[in-house]
Amino acid sequence: MTAPGRARTPLADLLSLVWRRLPRLRRFVISSCPPDASSRGALDSLGCHLVEMYPRNLYLAARFRKPQVIKLLSDYLERGVRGWYAMKGPEVVGYGMLAVPQSAPQTVRRFIVHPGEAAPILFYIRPSFRSSGVATALLRELKAVASDDPSVSRLVAWTVPSNAASRRIQAKAGFAPAGGLWIFEFRGRPVFRYVFGSAVKR
Ligand SMILES: CC(C)(COP(=O)(O)OP(=O)(O)OC[C@H]1O[C@@H](n2cnc3c(N)ncnc32)[C@H](O)[C@@H]1OP(=O)(O)O)[C@@H](O)C(=O)NCCC(=O)NCCS
Repeated sequence: MTAPGRARTPLADLLSLVWRRLPRLRRFVISSCPPDASSRGALDSLGCHLVEMYPRNLYLAARFRKPQVIKLLSDYLERGVRGWYAMKGPEVVGYGMLAVPQSAPQTVRRFIVHPGEAAPILFYIRPSFRSSGVATALLRELKAVASDDPSVSRLVAWTVPSNAASRRIQAKAGFAPAGGLWIFEFRGRPVFRYVFGSAVKR
């Protein structure tokens, strides 16, 4: 990522290209929990409400996210992944998505999500609204959304071990550790995956 106001140099582009092509081992921690209808309305106590994300209202996220992020959100919506904004009055506080594969396993952000599972992904809370419980409440709302779908028996979430805030919101929203995943990648493609714990084969 380039710092604001600083132009990229050809050398930076070259280094970034080489970096992207290097073999690497990615590690994720996995946690899971059952859907939970009783967590519906979790955003209410924070003065927030849910609004479903559609291609036609992605302009709301475009006010504070870069075009490449909007493209990513748009691609996921096109794939059938659903997204929600957490809003305070007319203002978007953040958003999150929920991937629910219907008949076949689906690769979502390097992870394989199986039918019967729902996967919360791409949570983002605007910096000025962080650390007041919005992401936790949004995740709990998505547990309630998942409970509306009789085909979903569990939610599965994963994050990099260094994302302490993400691990904390999962724990606060009732997710329990379910194992881990190591993916050895070469040129951006998984060469080898190793899953441990009760996370089921990925
Ligand atoms: C991760 C993120 C969604 C959390 O949003 P949030 O609304 O601030 O989350 P909450 O307020 O519900 O909870 C955050 C918890 O993490 C803790 N936390 C925040 N930063 C932390 C850090 N660097 N180390 C340890 N804990 C941290 C907070 O203290 C809080 O826990 P507490 O209530 O016990 O004090 C937000 O920081 C964000 O958008 N980050 C950038 C995108 C991202 O990393 N998304 C997640 C991966 S998909």
